[in-house]
Amino acid sequence: MLEALEKHSQGHRRRVPDDTDPEAEDTPAQSTLKATVLRQDLMSLGPDLFIKKYLYDDLYSARELLGVFGINLPDAFDEAPDASLISVLEILLNRDYNKRQKLAHIKTIDDIVKVLQQSKQILVVTGAGISTSLGIPDFRSSDGIYSTLGKYNLSDPQELFDIWLFRQDPSIFYDFAKRLLPEARGYSPTHAFIRLLQDRGILLRQYTQNIDDIESAAGILADKLIQCHGSFKTASCLTCKGSVPGHTIFRDIRNGTVPKCTLCNETRIKSQTSSSSKAHKPLKRGREWETSETEIEDTPGIGIMKPDITFFGEQLATDFKTQVLEDRLKADLLICIGTSLRVAPVAGIPALMPRDVPQLFISRESAGKEYAFDLELLGACDETVQSLAEKAGWETGFQAIVDRGRIRNV
Ligand code: OAD
Repeated sequence: MLEALEKHSQGHRRRVPDDTDPEAEDTPAQSTLKATVLRQDLMSLGPDLFIKKYLYDDLYSARELLGVFGINLPDAFDEAPDASLISVLEILLNRDYNKRQKLAHIKTIDDIVKVLQQSKQILVVTGAGISTSLGIPDFRSSDGIYSTLGKYNLSDPQELFDIWLFRQDPSIFYDFAKRLLPEARGYSPTHAFIRLLQDRGILLRQYTQNIDDIESAAGILADKLIQCHGSFKTASCLTCKGSVPGHTIFRDIRNGTVPKCTLCNETRIKSQTSSSSKAHKPLKRGREWETSETEIEDTPGIGIMKPDITFFGEQLATDFKTQVLEDRLKADLLICIGTSLRVAPVAGIPALMPRDVPQLFISRESAGKEYAFDLELLGACDETVQSLAEKAGWETGFQAIVDRGRIRNV
């Protein structure tokens, strides 16, 4: 390997595998053909053998191979010796090699409907887009939550869910949080579709990033549901960790005020009373007790309630990690719905799946180049799932669940 590197860095002349003049520029058609042939070779040889064949056997330079694979290096690399580009090439070839390839037999909606009808263990990943038809905004659309936070002067809108900022100043979150609370019971046709999968016995699990807990209203069973980012179902005190049902802080949330922990407040009142009545007596439990008593009175973050949603900077629930590693091996179809797939680790679920498991993406916008879904059905997800249900012959069951979920104002 070292020898090959040295030989390479000395700028040995390279043989270009064309029958024509090796120095001649490729036409665009030739470039495309060359890229296709090389990519096929990468897939059949794997990155190590590919590099040996094309780089170390001196057919191409690292720079040329990067070019063939469409990587345009920044100007700063213009004078870089070719050997210094080999590690970049290795990383990129490994990335390309490991990237999922679309399955050849899934090209149309009818193909995916066949897969849907045959699947027995469907893993569904959902995001904010499945609740927008209920009037709950998503995060990253042009009219989403993150576009409306200007007045808070956050350096990044995602700071709304930053645990450090919340500890420092929970009023920013609570000024806004009323907009995150579902104002009505009921669920969308997309929630109904997932419930239909459950009723048909083919829902392996729903991984939702949503904190609105509408899945519960749709009747998704607790053991079928992973609320990856927590939910408003419960709330806990930052100080004593005491947990309460989420609805007990809804009034504060609706009023835009910071909810306080009753338990910590009682302690505060007791300690204030006892310190004034025992003003001349020494504290019995010594310095530590004194300090915590003072903290309870003085620190603004003491006794603040927080809904049990996972903020950036907090650990995801442990059931996510263990369950997803099991489920990836059981699933026979992955469907991602109404998510931009921008937030890890949920965004990594498609890459975790075995390569032969079909992947369907349903949302308004494409998931982007880093994903290789077999099919992307772009548009309003409620309409898309309706048409999937119809084509699968499940329309009656679907419609019955949809009807039960129509919004009733609370
Ligand atoms: P995003 O707002 O990032 O993405 C929602 C996606 O759904 C967007 O790409 C929309 O185009 C699409 N969409 C909206 N309405 C739709 C509709 N009716 N039909 C089809 N598609 C629709 O939301 P998430 O991907 O869920 O964290 O965001 C992930 C996480 O980022 C959230 O869980 C949140 C946020 O920080 C927490 O709440 C803690």
